[in-house]
Amino acid sequence: MPLRKVGITGTGSYVPEDKITNADLAKMVDTSDEWITTRTGIKERRRAKPGQATSDLAYQASVRALEAANCSADELDAIILGTITPDMNFPSTACFLQKKLMAVNASAQDISAACCGFIYALRTARALGATGDANKVLIVSAETLTKYTNYEDRGSCVLFGDGAGAAVIEPTDNSTEILDTWARADGYSEAAMSMVLRNGGSQSPFSQEALDNKEHLIIIRGREVYKFAVVRMSELIRDAAARQNVPVTDIDWIVPHQANLRILQGVAERAGYPVERFYINLQKYGNSSGASVGIALDEAVRDGSIKDDHLVLLCAFGGGLTWASATIRW
Ligand code: UT7
Repeated sequence: MPLRKVGITGTGSYVPEDKITNADLAKMVDTSDEWITTRTGIKERRRAKPGQATSDLAYQASVRALEAANCSADELDAIILGTITPDMNFPSTACFLQKKLMAVNASAQDISAACCGFIYALRTARALGATGDANKVLIVSAETLTKYTNYEDRGSCVLFGDGAGAAVIEPTDNSTEILDTWARADGYSEAAMSMVLRNGGSQSPFSQEALDNKEHLIIIRGREVYKFAVVRMSELIRDAAARQNVPVTDIDWIVPHQANLRILQGVAERAGYPVERFYINLQKYGNSSGASVGIALDEAVRDGSIKDDHLVLLCAFGGGLTWASATIRW
């Protein structure tokens, strides 16, 4: 059976109302608005309320994506949710989301690919749609990173925020199409442990000692990730353009993982791509890991930046280490 053409028919996003500004952080750790702005570009980030779980954020983004796609929840064949901050170790956060949506005809699964969660989910959804194993697939990436952030570590606490991005993926007969996806991981090198949350899994079950050592919170070696990100992201862009047989400058918009403005400036220079055509919203939301690409994509669609027929590239790097891209004719 020939593979079917699959596209994105609707996007949605959600960020919690509460903000953490650079001034707020300067009251918690030895930092300043000036340092955070010049080193990262971030001005503020969002924080989920204590009772707000990852699936609650995912639900809000999903409702918006389903509405944009003119799709009801019971039409969904599959839900694929990227997160590193799940509601519980199990059941999957996708199952909690399924219940909130009442998506009674869908399979539900999580994907753990850190900041690449949205693109890994999209890649899997495309395969399900192309083969005919599913028709309508909801992908969501949602994070509540502020619940796992060490607000005594100035090297990481200035970065993270919460949010969710979603999209409906299905076979299309118009011009919109996911043309190509790419994903890789490096779980084998020393750098794989440069972003980690050590405690709470089978290697290190919850313990008072781990809690006292703050091993239930995120640890990153920022410099190491920075270098990896600039190299991998620029490769992703050049390789994705080459697979379409076009120069990188033919890509109308790049929607990147929103980690750090300086990383994106470095990537643009290395890839030979104008930084003005990176869609950037990290100043408002910080780094929301896997959610960041989904949120930025939805904002770019809703504010009219991305238009019909545009060639759009999503690309990300993250914990694992992972890196991934998706090329879409909008
Ligand atoms: O999505 C993937 C997740 N990971 C990331 O996004 C992290 C990617 N990496 C980064 O964004 C950057 O590496 C950081 C923003 C984390 C750090 O920026 P940097 O330019 O790489 O700074 P650095 O780690 O080399 O530190 C430079 C200095 C150090 O002081 P000394 O040793 O030179 O005296 C740090 O202690 O800046 C100090 N520093 C800070 N100073 C004020 C680190 N964090 C802060 C801070 N405020 N918040």
